Amino acid sequence: MNSTTAINILHNISLRPFNTFGMDVKAKDFAEISAETEIPAILRLISRYEGPVLFLGGGSNVLFTQDFNGLVIKVSTKGIEIVDQDDEYVYVRGMAGENWDDFVQYCVKRNYGGLENLSLIPGNVGSSPIQNIGAYGVEIKDTFYMLDAVSLRTGEFREFIAGECEFGYRSSVFKHELKGQYLILSVTFRLKKRPVLNTSYGAITAELEAIGEAPSVKSVASAICNIRRSKLPDPLELGNAGSFFKNPVVSQAVYLELNSLYPGIPAYQAGDDVKLAAGWLIEQCGWKGFREGDAGVHTRQALVLVNYGNASGNLVYSLAQKIIESVKSKFGVQLEPEVNII
Ligand code: FAD
Ligand code: EPU
Repeated sequence: MNSTTAINILHNISLRPFNTFGMDVKAKDFAEISAETEIPAILRLISRYEGPVLFLGGGSNVLFTQDFNGLVIKVSTKGIEIVDQDDEYVYVRGMAGENWDDFVQYCVKRNYGGLENLSLIPGNVGSSPIQNIGAYGVEIKDTFYMLDAVSLRTGEFREFIAGECEFGYRSSVFKHELKGQYLILSVTFRLKKRPVLNTSYGAITAELEAIGEAPSVKSVASAICNIRRSKLPDPLELGNAGSFFKNPVVSQAVYLELNSLYPGIPAYQAGDDVKLAAGWLIEQCGWKGFREGDAGVHTRQALVLVNYGNASGNLVYSLAQKIIESVKSKFGVQLEPEVNII
């Protein structure tokens, strides 16, 4: 590696193009890594830097509530590689800055099974393990093989296998005990050469019928893209970060009590507990389509908070607080943000 690589640092940069909420905040300092050879220089920079450091991938899971008085490092390292294969599996590695959906479609095109249900999720490969991204019955933990990371404290390179990542619903060790301690460099997935499709979500089967396609890796990916486009706002048209809150998980007893008060409340078994649909709870509190200034609750999906143009992060955050309070007071259920509040 070239130890003399110089990192270009920009100052007082608007982060608007770098977060899908479109928050117009400034970073005191800003740098970008585009090649692995720049990592030693980035690590030196971080070790000398006085102030907070924040990595950004696609900026699709962050809400900036103020200027960032520190160093933002945008991770833009690219590359997709088949690192190994046997009769059953192919092991595909994506560099952290690779766009997630480009990575998924690379696998879909080659008929490697396992990631098709995760089509069209915004963001980058390197961020996918942070909250164990999931959609339509699948989470990355189902096909995750390992990741390469580097410790910001010691500069030590380390591999993490699945068991070390403590994956859970929208959660991993990188969101908790190891938060902010590692830069994820690449992620490797183990995909099936003879795919086993997951069409357990009724909407997938209905969409396959509507487009007249038999189930396959490619058709499931297309169906998922169609469903997502019909439900979720495109951040290029309307600022948002996907689901703002996690779906709350409650005990069986709490669920039974809620179901007696609100028969048919949407709910899914989650181990011994029950996962409720936060979008339904929020809609029942009357928030769907609500707008205050440029901050709002999406008209088609109440779990998504939106920026109509010039909302501040604080306005969106205070709307989120009001929603949390009203859901708590009507249902006794505590909502928690899924988005990283900065
Ligand atoms: P960022 O927002 O840039 O970063 C997220 C966090 O990861 C930050 O804390 C950041 O510091 C950290 N980070 C980023 N890169 C690295 C790295 N290389 N090393 C260490 N830390 C890093 N999520 C789902 O799970 N399922 C969905 O269905 C889904 N749908 C969405 C739909 C829309 C329209 C939008 C806007 C978002 C959606 N999301 C969904 C949320 C989002 O796409 C995911 O959380 C995604 O993984 C975020 O990736 P990112 O690169 O944009 O991360
Ligand atoms: N619902 C309503 N009103 C709404 C929205 C939803 O009543 O405004 C009801 C729906 O009718 C349905 C239930 O809530 O009965 C669930 O809705 P949906 O299928 O749209 O999924 P979700 O639970 O709102 C979750 C994920 C999404 C993921 C989809 C598909 C979380 C926090 N969100 O949404 O992930 O794409 O399922 O699997 O788990 C994200 O994380 O950013 C994200 C978009």
